[in-house]
Amino acid sequence: MKLKHSLFTRRQFLNGLFGGWIAALLGSFFYPVVKFIFPPTREPDQIILPFSDFKDMGSNSVRKFSWGTKPGLLKKNEDGSYIAFVGICTHLDCNVAYLPDERKFFCACHDGWYDEVGRNIGGPPPKPLRQLVLVIEEENLVIKREDVE
Ligand code: FES
Repeated sequence: MKLKHSLFTRRQFLNGLFGGWIAALLGSFFYPVVKFIFPPTREPDQIILPFSDFKDMGSNSVRKFSWGTKPGLLKKNEDGSYIAFVGICTHLDCNVAYLPDERKFFCACHDGWYDEVGRNIGGPPPKPLRQLVLVIEEENLVIKREDVE
């Protein structure tokens, strides 16, 4: 069976196709620009972790946890206290690692160094590691951003 007429002409079809292609092209250009100008905040105000997951840590050791989309580092000090950081280098956002033998945090990207309390001591990092507020409440570790009450 042959159709006698179409809903749109060949020119309308090609114009729609071309317009859609232009819209997709502009969208693929402007989407990353808008995301760069207005970055999404993926950092939580606070997280609650079971303290039992960290009780068995030896002193002078670090265990990772998820801080939103970034790694968090929980360090157990010699005196049994804990300290938490965002595990991202303050130079260009690479992940940092703890070297227990040296008692320092290290960023392999550009040879950046932080001491065991997160102060920048060598290489290009301009600021200390970002420290998080840590509260031990009964069976939980509550880890918060510094600006959250
Ligand atoms: S990103 Fe860590 S030293 Fe450059």
